[in-house]
Amino acid sequence: MNSNNSIGSSRIPGFYKLSIDERLNIVINWANLNMNEVELLKNFGNLNPKVADTMIENVIGAISYPFAVATNFRINGKDYLVPMVIEEPSVVAAASNAARMLREANNGDGIRAEASKQLMIGQVHLVKVPSPHYAAMEIMQRKNEILEIANSTNKTLVNVGGGAKDIEVRVIETRKGPVVVVHLIVDVVDAMGANTINTMAEAVAPYLEKLSGGEARLRIVSNYAVYRIARAWVRIEPEKIGGMEVAEKIVEASAIAEADIYRAVTHNKGIMNGVIAIALATAQDHRAIEAGAHAYAARDGRYKPLSTWDLDSQGYLVGVLEMPLQVGTIGGAVKTHPVAQIALKILGIKTAKELAEIMVAVGLAQNFAALRALVTTGIQAGHMKLHARNLAISAGAEGALIDIVAEEMIKEGKITFDKAKELVEKYKASKTS
Ligand code: MEV
Repeated sequence: MNSNNSIGSSRIPGFYKLSIDERLNIVINWANLNMNEVELLKNFGNLNPKVADTMIENVIGAISYPFAVATNFRINGKDYLVPMVIEEPSVVAAASNAARMLREANNGDGIRAEASKQLMIGQVHLVKVPSPHYAAMEIMQRKNEILEIANSTNKTLVNVGGGAKDIEVRVIETRKGPVVVVHLIVDVVDAMGANTINTMAEAVAPYLEKLSGGEARLRIVSNYAVYRIARAWVRIEPEKIGGMEVAEKIVEASAIAEADIYRAVTHNKGIMNGVIAIALATAQDHRAIEAGAHAYAARDGRYKPLSTWDLDSQGYLVGVLEMPLQVGTIGGAVKTHPVAQIALKILGIKTAKELAEIMVAVGLAQNFAALRALVTTGIQAGHMKLHARNLAISAGAEGALIDIVAEEMIKEGKITFDKAKELVEKYKASKTS
């Protein structure tokens, strides 16, 4: 029972069938929302309420995040403005700053990146199979028939050169007995592919049941996208990034992440700052990307950093990032969200492969920015500057006064709202007197 409202129960039959306004009215009563709060929720910004209502269920409003572009990126010799959506200060600035330095990498080609074919895995788990290893062989032998059934579900994909291309079969031991696992390997071309794969997995399941004599239990995409890998790499003179001492410390930080899981997770989180910001700007399934990336980080049985930094024999700093990236430029929210379309237009790209290459390159730049900051000034210097600016703005500073107030707070080592207010008032008073 929620004592703050007149409804009291979250059991609301048919809530999903109501209009946005009707649902919102229920929530207004539930949480005693005031008019300002209601107006904010009802502001759908750049998303048409009708579109929002078809994207997910039970919609009552929308939330806006800042949409920024990171500058300076040169990837495979081509310049990009990179759309990023994120709530965390410093990420876009750090990416742009790193990209400025890394433009010089790889003999002026900037960051190099290469994504594999867009191969996803669809899984069917067969349980209660009377003779699992025998069934595995029988299934392998029927590969062509299985692929044919899978491909019959998506002629459009097949027509553009994609579709189910291969199968894999394993027998695994679970605490509920042996399970035959069938993988459909599908080239999803420019789609993220989950829907396509799920349809295919469901389509082949009855035939697999017939072949194995078992029951198809799970029929779904695997987000462990190990055949959909993107790689980015840079080779740069230490002088271009602050000198040999900085380069050596970056390598040291990389070694620490390899040896210490607590650090590796944060190291990878920094990479994901860049990757996920682009995923949000282009309306990707960012949970799939995260889940796949972290599993890949642990592919050797121990969680490790996704990137490594080293000095080569000629004294150049070399950074490499390898991760699975399951992203699409067609279908899903990428198609329905108009801003995702604008993001793709800003990037000037059409293919999922190029999107993955940009994302992995930005992930590497973001990682470089974090490590460089950590081994030099420390991460808080940049954060504090932004924090101080934000405080100055909320205390009423405008224009040039924002930086004046922020810098004075940093100089005094007192970065608080009260201090910002005091300084804003002082400067405003001195202007009027
Ligand atoms: C903060 O969002 C990301 C960092 O912690 C990444 C890192 O430590 O490498 C700065």
